[in-house]
Amino acid sequence: MSSIDLHSPEFLADPYPTFRHLRETAPLFPLQPGAWLVTRHAEADRILRDPRFAKDYLSTVARRYGPDAVEEPVFQVVNRFMLVMNPPEHLRLRALVGKAFGVKQAAELRRLALDVAETLVEGFIGQGRADLMAALAYPLPVRVICAMLGLRLEDNLEFQRETQALARVFEMSRLARADIDAANHAARMFDGYFRAVCRARRQAPGDDLISLLLRAEDGDQRLSEDEIVANITLLFVAGHETTANMLGNTLLSLHRHPDQLARLQSRPDLLPQAVNEALRYEPAVQIAARAALEDVALGGVGVRRGETLYVGLGAANRDPAAFPEPDAFRIDRPGAANPLSFGGGVHYCLGARLARIELETALAVLFRRLPGLELPDGDRPRWKSSLTIRGLERLEAVW
Ligand code: HEM
Repeated sequence: MSSIDLHSPEFLADPYPTFRHLRETAPLFPLQPGAWLVTRHAEADRILRDPRFAKDYLSTVARRYGPDAVEEPVFQVVNRFMLVMNPPEHLRLRALVGKAFGVKQAAELRRLALDVAETLVEGFIGQGRADLMAALAYPLPVRVICAMLGLRLEDNLEFQRETQALARVFEMSRLARADIDAANHAARMFDGYFRAVCRARRQAPGDDLISLLLRAEDGDQRLSEDEIVANITLLFVAGHETTANMLGNTLLSLHRHPDQLARLQSRPDLLPQAVNEALRYEPAVQIAARAALEDVALGGVGVRRGETLYVGLGAANRDPAAFPEPDAFRIDRPGAANPLSFGGGVHYCLGARLARIELETALAVLFRRLPGLELPDGDRPRWKSSLTIRGLERLEAVW
């Protein structure tokens, strides 16, 4: 296959046949000069775990947009996210932020997610129909992270718009000038806003995550204000599109496999496994980027130092070498291999536990409150045009 069209409607509707073809013919596919798409589980897993592949954020920005672009506010802010850092700085930040983030016990997070999900469903149940993306999938993780951060922003449309503008910098394709301007605006807005929140919490600390981060210490290690502000922004943004789209994808996958849906409704103990299978089958994050720190032979090609590797998480999750009959959706699939939906290695998703709790809770509440829920457009879903994020524009439901 000499070229593939990653923007065609057919690819967006179902990228997995293309991924299968690439796995079989060119497991490291040259997307652009110096950039490869990786589709097999073995190489994908190796890249995520091998320290010779690492983050190289500002170099990627310079290559894509020119050397002056690294001064753009959005790239400067993202460059302080732990997501794009390498050891040892990454380890230091991850340990400090992870400690504060992990303070809440699973039972507490479940109560919080349950409370939010019940309130949201109560708000629309009387209508008999709803777009579940807008009514449940987005507001659930936003309200949960706002509660954890001690913010009352959940229904603030300006913040939702700014979050989406900022999240666009994680696309694989080159952004237009107007998108970079919008992302700069978002980065400045978040920076100013969270700096002011930090000042207020220093004066009047609480038991929220921001106050914990301000107090966080690990031996003689502390977080600087710049690091705190950037990584609160990351926590605020990282859980939105990801969890929202994953809830939409999970509902769609279940409704497209009615036998599996019926089984789950009669066996709620299978919920964690069902969520795991949905994560494998239709992951919301499709790509994780790394750069080669040295020349490495991989998947039959010579990857040169500095080249970019786009790890296809969704592609690897359909590799038959890791998951027998990978295109079958089975909620009790034995867990032979590890789906890569939350990444792997040192950057393994910090919010994975929270995301699983949110997904399991939302499904449990929907099954209990709306047992007859149907998705009238389930056989012709409208996918977003993003390559990095896989999710639905809308998810019409009736009951
Ligand atoms: C289903 C929902 C989610 C999915 C599919 C997802 C996916 C991912 C993936 C694939 C990565 C690794 C990226 C890489 O290696 O380059 C990641 C990292 C991360 N995620 Fe998530 N995520 C989800 C939910 C969340 C939530 C709810 C939060 C927090 C509120 C969160 C916070 C983070 C953070 C902070 C990192 C960076 C970790 C590090 O660099 O050490 N995520 N996520």
